[in-house]
Amino acid sequence: MAKKMKPLTTAFGIPVGDDQNSMTAGNRGPVLMQDAHLLEKLAHFDRERIPERVVHAKGAGAGGYFEVTADVTRYTKAKFLSKVGKRTEVFARFSTVGGEKGSADAERDPRGFAVKFYTEDGNYDFVGNNTPVFFIRDPLKFPDFIHTQKRNPATNLKDPDMFWDFLSLTPESIHQVTILFSDRGTPATYRHMNGYSSHTYKWYNAKGEQFWVKYHFKTDQKIKNLTRQEAEKLKGSDPDHATRDLFEAIARGENPSWTLEMQIMPYEQGLDYRFDIFDITKVWPHADVPPITVGKLVLNRNPVNYFAEVEQAAFGPSNMVPGIAISPDKMLQARVFSYHDTHIHRLGPNYHLIPVNQPKAAPEMSYQRDGFMRTDDGGGSGPNYWPNSFGGPAPHASAKEPGFPVHDHAGRFAYTHPNDDFVQAGDLYRKVMSKKDRDNLVGNLVDHLGNAQKRIQLRQCALFYKADKEYGTRVAQGLGLDPAEVAKLAAMSQEERETATAAGR
Ligand code: NDP
Ligand code: HEM
Repeated sequence: MAKKMKPLTTAFGIPVGDDQNSMTAGNRGPVLMQDAHLLEKLAHFDRERIPERVVHAKGAGAGGYFEVTADVTRYTKAKFLSKVGKRTEVFARFSTVGGEKGSADAERDPRGFAVKFYTEDGNYDFVGNNTPVFFIRDPLKFPDFIHTQKRNPATNLKDPDMFWDFLSLTPESIHQVTILFSDRGTPATYRHMNGYSSHTYKWYNAKGEQFWVKYHFKTDQKIKNLTRQEAEKLKGSDPDHATRDLFEAIARGENPSWTLEMQIMPYEQGLDYRFDIFDITKVWPHADVPPITVGKLVLNRNPVNYFAEVEQAAFGPSNMVPGIAISPDKMLQARVFSYHDTHIHRLGPNYHLIPVNQPKAAPEMSYQRDGFMRTDDGGGSGPNYWPNSFGGPAPHASAKEPGFPVHDHAGRFAYTHPNDDFVQAGDLYRKVMSKKDRDNLVGNLVDHLGNAQKRIQLRQCALFYKADKEYGTRVAQGLGLDPAEVAKLAAMSQEERETATAAGR
């Protein structure tokens, strides 16, 4: 090898003399245990893989910044939002949900839209999707829902019966199903889609006044989607097309950006709004709460190493900075647990020390100590308990969140808000979609639902029919079902419909 090249070493910095020939007992003899370099190399290779994310396993990421463009200090005291023109470093990751780490980017699926803001009050993680709503609104249903989007336990194949059985038994999913099966379910790239908080969050200002908010990151590249036929083709010809697109666009200097628009609702108004603001299957119609422009997200830096930055990035809805808080949305409450928990499993108890996850603008000052892979000085010789009188870090009351009143009996409650689950899906179909959008929606549904059992098709079509008669009728006709039978099922209660479409009938 050329003398000018840097010397190859073991993991411990010891120079390696030969990296092509294992050490053997003679020319044709067995390999020797004393070949520490070979043993180290193989043992490390054996452990190269970490668990992939249980959802959102396939993704791409990039660094950049967020810049404030409007004064929002009357709504939030978040420091990174405190001044027009203020910039905060970010790292973003986009993903598909159901597929494995090697799955195709063009799959029909919601897209994850996660952004880590390295603020001076610690890391703020925005963990949203490209859809403004979700399929379910109670966290108890999440593992079951995800199982139906993944593989059948016996065949290890994607299973249309599982997929549609669950959704047709979960009527609150109709709004998200309508978005997913529109062409927005197959965005052209990660650059050409919006990002939504979906949940309602809470902002509070320096006076302790509270507001309910929803985030909308609107793409500056304009929405661009794939048709079903284009997506099918891309899955085979370039399964990594969106990963490639993001990396190459940034490498060319075409830095993608998104405009952050916020819907902000006064605290009291939110509790009495016509839709339940803690129900993630509902949006706030823009006419009720017009979005205001708040800032710009720009991605301008490709990761230097995919594993270090993208695979090891850990986003958690529990990472909120003073000025931003969660709402009583049950799903959001459960997410506060689930992400930190899964990161500990996927990356270890000290995952916050991995550079991409470190609070860059506000170093950790805590009494958490030790554990696997604690790679810094672990708090050094400072006190490891609170309270102490040796100058350790102290809680500051200014970081306290204003509370809200809670009363009533503890129990398990279904959502009981008077507005039904079909209104907004119907509005989307009737009022927002163009003729082409509707044609493609019906075509996409017929193509996918057509693979499920007939009784499941009937049950699901009844839900489309309840959202909009024409919608349900067209999907039914496309599937060769009798629209009259669908209309009859749609007129039943969900319980009656389930009985009428049970297995064996
Ligand atoms: P508006 O006409 O004010 O807004 C319609 C919204 O729908 C726009 O944000 C638009 O996003 C989005 N949109 C357009 N085509 C599609 C599609 N195929 N799938 C999903 N979203 C689409 O109406 P309202 O606010 O009264 O809402 C009407 C319906 O629009 C809702 O029931 C909901 O289904 C959908 N919607 C509403 C949102 C909200 O926050 N209010 C957000 C997204 C969807 P864009 O501007 O990016 O084109
Ligand atoms: C990833 C759980 C709902 C957006 C994940 C992960 C888990 C999880 C365990 C893997 C995290 C990792 O390994 O790093 C849940 C649970 C939910 C829920 C229990 C409901 C109870 C949602 C909703 C959204 C969302 C409603 C969007 C609004 C995301 C995103 C990621 C993710 C974007 C990927 C983050 C990344 O890029 O690393 N979720 N999730 N999830 N989830 Fe959820």
